[in-house]
Amino acid sequence: MPELILGVESSCDETGLAFYEIGVGLRAEVLFSQTEIHAPYGGVVPELAARDHIRRLPRLWRELQEQSGFDRADAVAVTSGPGLIGALLVGVSFARALAYAWQVPLIPVHHLEGHLLAPLLDGDLPLPAVALLVSGGHSQLIAMRAFGQYELLGDTLDDAAGEAFDKAAKILGLPYPGGPALAALAEQGDPTRFSLPRPMLDRPGLDFSFSGLKTAFRLQAERLAADDQLARANLAASFQQSIVDTLVEKCRRALRQTGFAQLIVAGGVSANRQLRSSLQERLAPLAQIHFPGVRHSTDNAAMIALAGATHLAGAGTALLPCRTRARWPLEEL
Ligand code: KG4
Ligand code: ZN
Repeated sequence: MPELILGVESSCDETGLAFYEIGVGLRAEVLFSQTEIHAPYGGVVPELAARDHIRRLPRLWRELQEQSGFDRADAVAVTSGPGLIGALLVGVSFARALAYAWQVPLIPVHHLEGHLLAPLLDGDLPLPAVALLVSGGHSQLIAMRAFGQYELLGDTLDDAAGEAFDKAAKILGLPYPGGPALAALAEQGDPTRFSLPRPMLDRPGLDFSFSGLKTAFRLQAERLAADDQLARANLAASFQQSIVDTLVEKCRRALRQTGFAQLIVAGGVSANRQLRSSLQERLAPLAQIHFPGVRHSTDNAAMIALAGATHLAGAGTALLPCRTRARWPLEEL
């Protein structure tokens, strides 16, 4: 039975490696963020991302070996999709080479399943649960019935929540990556000063849509004086509150609909402090709420190693051929 899993993550602009030991937990991890490489372009440039993963992985591997004292693993888990295809290919090739050299299993991991299971790195994760997955590419509500058994309850019809944060930040001229910058500005503002829509709360269902909110935000932003710092902070706070209110309300509906008493919040936007506190305040009577540690909210290899471990641990789980996929619905797992 394999015990030590090497996790490899390279689906977007973070390069990560981690060792996870079954029954013990995370043993070591290294992570490099390409933020500065992409910042001048205002977004991730896929070709630059792939090239930097190539440069970075061998160095990170040496670092991980030094940090952990391990120089091999019993299995290699790698993000094989969804993500940027060139970036994914680098990680998968790297993982495949190590697995081949060591003659150990190669476990393809769905990136979003990694995010969903990330809270397990820091605590337990009782299932069934409703999961809110909010990242730069996804805004989804998922019913997690058991490990590997996921049903999509709601999805975004246009922008993802993180994308909405990033676009709003760009409108205010904030530096890339926009989400954390907008959240920081919002902390200095009053969320009641601007009236913005709460998208999709006036109709039933669990889908999201953030593009109307973005337009309303842009119209208000265009009327502001560039040097009016307080008004900018108030507008950022109002925008953040509108997204948070929408996410909290949809989670409430999903919990009611499923009758589940556990809520998991994952993906980059789950690092948002206002979202965390509002969910705790408003939904605690309805469900126990689980967040990954802030370090494991955004992309990392620890959650990939852990997801790989749950696949290995699941009795009779056949190892899938490792195919790289830019698109990959979670429900196909
Ligand atoms: O999961 P992630 O690291 O990458 C993927 O998209 O898979 O999520 C990144 C997204 C970005 O859109 C970023 O702006 C957003 O998460 N984000 C935040 C915060 N931290 C990261 N959005 C709002 N508030 C934050 N504190
Ligand atoms: Zn991600």
